[in-house]
Amino acid sequence: MPTALSLMTSSVPRRAPALAPDLHLGEPITDTMHEEFVQLLDAAASAPDEALAAALEVWIAHTREHFAQEEAWMEAMDFGPRHCHAGQHRQVLDVAAEVRRQVADEHRFAAGRQLVSEVREWFAWHVSAMDSMMVESLRESGMVQAV
Ligand SMILES: [Fe+2]
Ligand SMILES: [Fe+2]
Repeated sequence: MPTALSLMTSSVPRRAPALAPDLHLGEPITDTMHEEFVQLLDAAASAPDEALAAALEVWIAHTREHFAQEEAWMEAMDFGPRHCHAGQHRQVLDVAAEVRRQVADEHRFAAGRQLVSEVREWFAWHVSAMDSMMVESLRESGMVQAV
């Protein structure tokens, strides 16, 4: 006979961790930002059409802060490839802002869903190629702690 508690907890959806294990970089602030990035992207992917623009806006606002944090670290370290890295951030934010506008103003929901899917692929590449180098340099500079 299930208890009241087991009935309650069994109704909580069991979800795999949002961030794939190979995208963990071992630096807690970065990993948390990345986990939230994926969760907010998942929320946009599962939002109904009428809620898609708002979900994209929440993801964009979080992503602005996430990228600004990385750019501030790279400036503080005088990190060599920071302009290339920040340029990628800027491109993604520019495209995302335009697509969110198309979803909100022109109801181009398919464009919004395509953005979410393409950003997922871009993110996996960006974390492995760019953020991993940044975290390595943060560790060497002693600015953050590895776990
Ligand atoms: Fe990042
Ligand atoms: Fe980055």
